[in-house]
Amino acid sequence: MTHRLLIMGPQGSGKGTQAKLLADRYGIPAISTGDIFRANIAGDTELGRRAKTYIEAGELVPDEVTTSMVRDRVAEDDTTEGFLLDGYPRTRAQVDALEAILQDLGKPLDAVIALSVNRNVLVERIKRRAGIEGRSDDTPEALDRRLAIYAQETAPLLDFYREHDLVVDIDGSQTPQEVDAALVAALDAKLGADA
Ligand SMILES: Nc1ncnc2c1ncn2[C@@H]1O[C@H](COP(=O)(O)OP(=O)(O)OP(=O)(O)O)[C@@H](O)[C@H]1O
Ligand SMILES: [Mg+2]
Repeated sequence: MTHRLLIMGPQGSGKGTQAKLLADRYGIPAISTGDIFRANIAGDTELGRRAKTYIEAGELVPDEVTTSMVRDRVAEDDTTEGFLLDGYPRTRAQVDALEAILQDLGKPLDAVIALSVNRNVLVERIKRRAGIEGRSDDTPEALDRRLAIYAQETAPLLDFYREHDLVVDIDGSQTPQEVDAALVAALDAKLGADA
């Protein structure tokens, strides 16, 4: 059984943490657009240079740049058992692009994880992370912008996936272990446990 998954949720909701746990459990790659951009910025690549100013301002990187990066990544040969996309799609154009990409590959999504956490908790978590990781986009201004874009552009995309009956809703405000347990129970119930 394949695990072709998306994880969606606001900044600080714990997508990256859960993505790693799920990727290990199901033997699939966790593909984080934010992590790929950060690695490219650190390596001072052409892609990193194109993305940097947008990211530091808390703005989205243009769809064409992000989509071509994702198209190449999901076509790699470590995705036969599935993949977990974290941070993509975030706009309606990206949803449509992803549908086309996965249709071409014959690899439709199996489930979409929606992690919800209230705003006060998110802001506290990111303040703490800013002190530890020093991400250049965890400033108060960039965070406000990212949360606003999430609410306006990204959260409504869940409606599309709900219409296709793909969404698994999870409370992300618990501990990482509790969230992981809830996720695995919900995914196994949806997709079947004998993978
Ligand atoms: N799908 C995307 N489309 C456009 N830009 C993107 C996309 N994914 C990542 N980015 C850029 O990379 C930045 C960091 O993304 P990342 O997913 O790491 O952070 P986040 O979702 O804001 O926070 P968190 O790490 O807490 O989940 C975004 O603010 C944006 O500029
Ligand atoms: Mg992340």
